[in-house]
Amino acid sequence: MNSFDLDQPIIELASPSERNYWTLRHAVEGVQIFGGIGSGKTSGSGRMIALKYLKAGFGGLVLTVKPDEKQSWVDYCQQTGRSNDLIVLEPGGKHNFNFLAYESVQSGGGSALTENLVDVLKTVIRAGEEKDAGKGDDPFWETALDMLMFNVIDLCQLAYGKVAIKDLYNIAQTIPKDLEGLKTEAQAGAKYFHKAFETAKENVNVQVEEWFASLPLSHQQRLQDELDFENELLEAVPNARLFKFIDQFFVENFISLTDKTRSIIDFIFSGFLFRLLRDPVYSMFCRHELSTVTPEDSLRGKIILINLPVKTYHKVGRDCQILFKYIWQRTMEKRDVSRNDRPVFLWADEAQNFIHEKDADFQATARSSRVSTVYISQNLPNYMASMGGKQGEFKVKSFLGTLGTKIFHANADIETNKYASELIGDAFFEEYGDSVTFAKQFSKSQSRSMRLERVVRPEEFVRLRTGGPNNSFWVEGYLHRQGDMVLKGQNYIKMLFAQNYQP
Ligand SMILES: Nc1ncnc2c1ncn2[C@@H]1O[C@H](COP(=O)(O)OP(=O)(O)OP(=O)(O)O)[C@@H](O)[C@H]1O
Ligand SMILES: [Mg+2]
Repeated sequence: MNSFDLDQPIIELASPSERNYWTLRHAVEGVQIFGGIGSGKTSGSGRMIALKYLKAGFGGLVLTVKPDEKQSWVDYCQQTGRSNDLIVLEPGGKHNFNFLAYESVQSGGGSALTENLVDVLKTVIRAGEEKDAGKGDDPFWETALDMLMFNVIDLCQLAYGKVAIKDLYNIAQTIPKDLEGLKTEAQAGAKYFHKAFETAKENVNVQVEEWFASLPLSHQQRLQDELDFENELLEAVPNARLFKFIDQFFVENFISLTDKTRSIIDFIFSGFLFRLLRDPVYSMFCRHELSTVTPEDSLRGKIILINLPVKTYHKVGRDCQILFKYIWQRTMEKRDVSRNDRPVFLWADEAQNFIHEKDADFQATARSSRVSTVYISQNLPNYMASMGGKQGEFKVKSFLGTLGTKIFHANADIETNKYASELIGDAFFEEYGDSVTFAKQFSKSQSRSMRLERVVRPEEFVRLRTGGPNNSFWVEGYLHRQGDMVLKGQNYIKMLFAQNYQP
């Protein structure tokens, strides 16, 4: 049933002379909130928007950085009558999400599953890499890591018919160091890599024999020549072809990489898998075959909160939340809005922790999939540090361009204040100046001229009110909307947000 009108008002914007609305349409164009530490992002504009979205019936996904965020959302849901819709995915909790099983169903297994898993894993792994370490932008390094993931996952599927984190980890850990090792360990047959490799080979051989036996005798005779046989085999039995690629990759490419490159790649991939294999995240994301929560729950109006705050769980908390976020985003992109038009939000306070390389692409389609992204962060340099690379600033600004509404609270960061000021833009101001003219007789007159100036100068953001008892719990901020006018023919409005706002 479709019941969400894009023109439905979410926030009323009013001046003494005019009234306008910030609507659902604006919500699904995305929101970015900036402000210095303690400027009122979370308790001012953030809280109010969260309550409005909940009241309006949005589903959503909430990522967490601070340990108190869960309690805030429990309160928000309670205040808006949405407590029954809150699903908390947390250590020791009653919910779990098996991402491998979910991806497996989404892609139908086989090579599509490998593709999807590599896409998800590499997005998460890359988001977690230190951007200034230099290797993040090295295309060779990235390709080698992708290929390792592809081949380990394919090998796992060929050998065991499914993908499990434990198997991926064990295989990746025991890839022989050199060609000599490849032979000797094969004889001992003890290592996981060889076991998988031999099992895959046997499985493929069974398929090859079945295929050969199914051919008419005359056809079989025509394939006496080894080259003919192989050519036809590789066409007819896809797994034989796949196995050949896997074999080639490990023997020719991977084992012959230089020690340094190999150890970096090994370390990154195995390290990532290793973190997933440890509890509490193993129980939340891998252990149970059946998921009790999936991204689709958001479309049914549930609010999924992942309570693995980065401040407490650090890297693994971040990895797991980016993993869920990216899988969730892909699900939202595929949704059919004509059947279910319920808006959903993607909520990230301290959002710089959860940015990944596909975010800009996702934002490009977020509006048509009715996803309102709300990212809260202190300043632009936060994003630059996490998007990094040589074109950091350009990437950040173009990414911010995909979020239609921006709210700027008090800030001491010069870059962010300059950005806000430039975004709001210039206008002509009348300027009255004394001008002194020497003419026939000495006269003093007032001249009038127009001067182009910033509408809101960067320094003004330093002085905004930040809430708390000293400000009677009012938080000030400039709301800017890209494209069309907010109020009184302007693209921005200076607003007050009440920390004690009641829905
Ligand atoms: N519920 C509340 N009622 C009144 N004041 C509050 C409340 N929550 C926070 N404050 C105060 O209001 C100010 C703004 O706090 P808030 O946590 O919203 O800032 P923030 O911009 O999210 O900061 P940070 O970057 O540290 O997350 C702070 O001085 C804080 O002490
Ligand atoms: Mg905050």
